[in-house]
Amino acid sequence: LRKIIIDTDPGQDDAAAIMLALASPELEVLGITAVAGNVPLALTGRNVRMVTEICGRADIPVYAGADRPLARKLVTAEHVHGKTGLDGIDLFEPARPLEPEHAVDFIIEKLRTEPAGSVTLCPLGPLTNIATVLERAPDVVNRIKQIVLMGGGFFEGGNITPSAEFNIYVDPEAAKIVFGAGVPLTMMPLDVTHKVLTTRARVERLRANGNRASVAMADMLEFFERFDEEKYGTDGGPLHDPTVIAWLLDPGMFSGRNCNVEIETGSDLTLGATVVDWWKVSGRPENALVVNDVDADRFFDLLIERLGRL
Ligand code: BDR
Ligand code: CA
Repeated sequence: LRKIIIDTDPGQDDAAAIMLALASPELEVLGITAVAGNVPLALTGRNVRMVTEICGRADIPVYAGADRPLARKLVTAEHVHGKTGLDGIDLFEPARPLEPEHAVDFIIEKLRTEPAGSVTLCPLGPLTNIATVLERAPDVVNRIKQIVLMGGGFFEGGNITPSAEFNIYVDPEAAKIVFGAGVPLTMMPLDVTHKVLTTRARVERLRANGNRASVAMADMLEFFERFDEEKYGTDGGPLHDPTVIAWLLDPGMFSGRNCNVEIETGSDLTLGATVVDWWKVSGRPENALVVNDVDADRFFDLLIERLGRL
């Protein structure tokens, strides 16, 4: 049983990641923390609770964290996710409120009280909360088992600017802190997430599960994929965030390379770029496992089978 904390900004693909985690007996979700990203914090905090309730898991505590990046104005992504962040389903007011504690305090406390090296952090949005934890409580840094995050892109380029991926772009200063912290890091960049497309056939298979969570996921994905279909003419959109959870469950379906990764925080042109030393030309120390390939059919088989269990 692997203990995880999911830090997230839902987002339909975040919702899919949360559902996959809650459907998987190999993972113990200690709590879920919300951060501002795809939509403002008031919405991401509500969206997380909606998703846990759709999964019948209102027992999972949800905490609100940072409402803006460390040093910049918040950039959001309603053009992809819709005004609510979860467009595609009928929204409702969740029964369980947010926990009174701040997300950062919750994460620090869990890292201090759970056995050292037992808790994995799974950031699916801008890295503001996670960077704040690392800065505020240096004693917890080497108690983290691992950070497995969705963010960045290298050969694939960026999706919010030509050179930056959204999660890193929104809070590059936070990303710099996280990549420089010395915590074992696995990174799921666009290079891998653009290989898991929500094709019509896959969404139909998911819907055919027939349970509430699968149908809600299918409804959300039908909205979400429209952006890529209309803009790029693909069959489906990239299901970014669930790759983080799938990697924890079945790393054998992925491949990648240990590399040095640095974050650009200076240049206006390439702000938030993840500079990945794939060819090992810099001599800088490796600080992340950079994943760049996946067996997409195996990924969707896992996702669809697991969602059917909820
Ligand atoms: C990332 O940005 C968000 O829009 C998605 O939820 C994902 O975490 C992809 O760039
Ligand atoms: Ca996200």
